[in-house]
Amino acid sequence: MIYKEPDIAYKKHLLSYSKPMDICKSLSESDASASQLTKNGFITSYKQTIYDRVNKYGLTLRLATEDDAERADCLIQTRFQNNLKRTATNAYDLIRFIKFGHGLILENSEHKIVGCLFEEPYNESEKISISRRLAIDSSLTGMGMGGTITLFSCLIAMERGALVKTGLIKIRNYLSHLIHLNNLGWILDSFYPNSDELGVFFSISMPLNPAALLENRIDLNKLQTFIAEKKNGVDYCLTKCDDFDGITKMYDNNDFKIVAISALEEGEVPEFFALPSEVLRYSM
Ligand SMILES: CC(C)(COP(=O)(O)OP(=O)(O)OC[C@H]1O[C@@H](n2cnc3c(N)ncnc32)[C@H](O)[C@@H]1OP(=O)(O)O)[C@@H](O)C(=O)NCCC(=O)NCCS
Repeated sequence: MIYKEPDIAYKKHLLSYSKPMDICKSLSESDASASQLTKNGFITSYKQTIYDRVNKYGLTLRLATEDDAERADCLIQTRFQNNLKRTATNAYDLIRFIKFGHGLILENSEHKIVGCLFEEPYNESEKISISRRLAIDSSLTGMGMGGTITLFSCLIAMERGALVKTGLIKIRNYLSHLIHLNNLGWILDSFYPNSDELGVFFSISMPLNPAALLENRIDLNKLQTFIAEKKNGVDYCLTKCDDFDGITKMYDNNDFKIVAISALEEGEVPEFFALPSEVLRYSM
């Protein structure tokens, strides 16, 4: 009998998409010059930008070591409450992520851990970097640190050869949607409407290259203009974030993908903004 490699061995995760410029942030001068660099030059320069941003707040950012696992786990346990609790990790998982993937630690001047992010081990053949845990202390809310360390983690994954970053995100984690979709340019690529164990969630992904990181971030003012000028249901789709049936239909048909979320208002359910897959030149 001849041995045949299973097809799965050849699966490649080559995600690509491009959000239209008329809903995305224009490049700042420094981003425009970073975009001219080689991939390695881009990574080095952008990492420095992030170190500077973090230092400005009196914080330091570094790779996690195994000694950080228990203290980082304490922060995670305080930040993952209520409906996020069932996605639990423990300190042992964190050691695994640190050893085989990577971990990032944000510390204040008293060496207290005030932010962390962990990535699962990379799958070498598919070159995917998988986000597992992001937590920022409530004392830093609104300082942009959640987005900042997620971006740093993208740079590390890119540096190590990953082509795609992916993760799971609960439908009601609106702040995390805002960070990933709007501030960093990710996309909600699949919908999981009814897992008994975990509730309703999406998988969320981002191609890892400089253009994808710079050119897919949402400008909410431009988005408003786009919505006013184009046709709902044809050029785009607006759906309340708790319209499970509408979102299920959208992802079953595979014709629209969610790329942005509206501004968050206290006590209001925000809206998801989706674009036709062909406009995004979406492929996987
Ligand atoms: C989600 C989490 C990591 C966000 O981190 P953060 O550093 O507080 O968030 P940021 O400061 O980066 O906020 C991002 C944006 O949301 C805005 N924002 C923050 N809190 C907000 C609120 N309650 N209402 C509206 N906007 C808010 C910020 O002003 C910022 O907007 P800007 O970039 O336009 O200035 C953090 O809240 C957390 O640890 N949550 C619990 C664990 C979790 O959900 N992890 C993610 C799992 S996918």
